[in-house]
Amino acid sequence: MSVSLIVGTQWGDEGKGKIVDLLSKDANIVARYQGGANAGHTVIYNGKKIILHLIPTGILNPHTTCIIGNGVVLDPFALLQETETLEKHNVQVSGRLFISNKAHLILPYHKIIEKYSEECSTQSIGTTGRGIGPSYVDKYARCGIRVGEILNFDEFVIRLRKNFEEKVRFIEKIFNKTIDIENTIDEYIEAIKQIKNFTFDTCYFLNQKIKEGKKILIEGAQGTLLDIDHGTYPFVTSSNPTAGGACTGLGVPPNKIDKVIGVSKAYATRVGNGPFPTELKNQFGQQLQSKGYEFGSTTGRPRRCGWLDLVALRYSVMINGIEEIALTKIDVLSDFDEINVCTKYELNGEQTELFPTDLLTLEKVKPIYTSLKGWKKSLAGLKLKKELPKEVLAYINFLEEYISCKVSMLSTGPAREDTIFF
Ligand code: GDP
Ligand code: IMO
Ligand code: MG
Repeated sequence: MSVSLIVGTQWGDEGKGKIVDLLSKDANIVARYQGGANAGHTVIYNGKKIILHLIPTGILNPHTTCIIGNGVVLDPFALLQETETLEKHNVQVSGRLFISNKAHLILPYHKIIEKYSEECSTQSIGTTGRGIGPSYVDKYARCGIRVGEILNFDEFVIRLRKNFEEKVRFIEKIFNKTIDIENTIDEYIEAIKQIKNFTFDTCYFLNQKIKEGKKILIEGAQGTLLDIDHGTYPFVTSSNPTAGGACTGLGVPPNKIDKVIGVSKAYATRVGNGPFPTELKNQFGQQLQSKGYEFGSTTGRPRRCGWLDLVALRYSVMINGIEEIALTKIDVLSDFDEINVCTKYELNGEQTELFPTDLLTLEKVKPIYTSLKGWKKSLAGLKLKKELPKEVLAYINFLEEYISCKVSMLSTGPAREDTIFF
């Protein structure tokens, strides 16, 4: 299998970073296809925690080349900051990271527009504040600026100034706020100069490498339920984290993707606003939060926690064509006597196994649970499937049967070695 795609099956933070890091030891290339610095992918690297927001997780493997694809929205400040952090950990970025000339830029006014829009909204999304939505708005309104434009630097600077002036007028008119742009433009130009040498048409590069039979890992950010089309709209991100996004976001055709691996936590979390049918606003939710250390990797906000939602997971398997699941954070369930999994929703007195993505419907559903026995044992240090308590195997069997998909990896802790391959 030379091209594998890793997607989040829930509302993000499933542990994609850990799984990509683990699998990228065998990969020649790791590529991101959507989102931007809203992601927070945590890896334990030489015993230290590193959180990657924009640069593909594969950067931590010295022989891996990393690609930021055309579907990503790129904030040059975030990129430079992350590069600096990595270099402090002796991870070389220069010469190993390439950016699609078709990726759109995040400009400082995108963050300002996002901030004021969230403040003014009666239904705020609870975004990460990284300027993601407004940058994609400009892309689709066909007034965005793409990374490749910096190759014609003088024209780029003229266009940048013009866009800044237009957006400042827009912000003044809509939000009645003034902003000082001169310093911001100069800083932005300085930052962008530094990425000038790392951009080209990565679609040709990737397709050539696929032809050569190189091992490529495609790293999804966010998750299926945050997908702009298939997620819990409008409480979603502004890109397509689902499998189709990998084709458009990298220029890789669907028939070249050999395998789709879905990452799912053994329970559920959500950061930001929006419906969450299995959310637990009681001591069990608190227990999941504290044992799982559920705080956003990008914003530090506490993550809302709840039981695993198999109705939603089966939907994710369908939308993405997932063939195997990497199940993470099973260790977090080790203290529970009983573990619930949602197998149906009740809606207007009827039962359904279909996941409604219409907001008003989703807000009304009530989860119906099947209760499974807990194992009440630490899983630390276990290396083989046969060493697992029978209750863990029963939990996994139940999940596999419900979603008609195999669990191929079980993660029992944040580090690489805390993984059991099935
Ligand atoms: P991502 O956005 O999908 O990459 O996930 P995040 O990095 O935002 O959040 C996952 C969190 O869980 C991180 O702090 C990881 O270090 C941690 N983690 C990953 N797998 C496991 C696991 O199996 N057990 C525990 N306890 N923590 C894990
Ligand atoms: P990773 O890749 C969890 C959420 C935000 C908000 C919504 C929209 O680490 O799994 P945005 O800033 O994208 O416009 O915010 O999406 N969100 C995430 N939640 N993990 C992420 O990424 C997220 N990226 C965005 O909290 O609810
Ligand atoms: Mg995350």
